[in-house]
Amino acid sequence: MKVKVSRKAHFNAAHRLYRPDWDDSKNAAVFGKCNNPNFHGHNYELVVSVFGEIDDETGFVMDMKVLKDLIKDKIEDALDHKNLNLEVPEFKNLNPTAENIAVVIWNKLRPHIEVSKELEVVLYETPRNFVTYSG
Ligand code: NI
Repeated sequence: MKVKVSRKAHFNAAHRLYRPDWDDSKNAAVFGKCNNPNFHGHNYELVVSVFGEIDDETGFVMDMKVLKDLIKDKIEDALDHKNLNLEVPEFKNLNPTAENIAVVIWNKLRPHIEVSKELEVVLYETPRNFVTYSG
């Protein structure tokens, strides 16, 4: 039997969306409020899911304590209360959109999840806007 198990997490981070090769008016038109030159914050909500067979011995798809610690060590410690543009190396040359943040989170977690299990990352940038990445 295959089951999807999920863990919710949360982090606050600041960002700015812009392209240095575009002029100010195009940046403002495309990225709107997220183009604010002085940065601004979001309360990101994260749902990390692991999908796979239930282990015969434990009855777990994945030990949720292990998943919790993994999210804390690899994601929250790296992103919480950070300026994504200035302090997180993955976004030095990558716009920190919700889409790109979800991909970065997935890439950070994937090596630590059993190969036989599928990984899905859902990231809410606002209560109504969210993205999903599954590799
Ligand atoms: Ni924003």
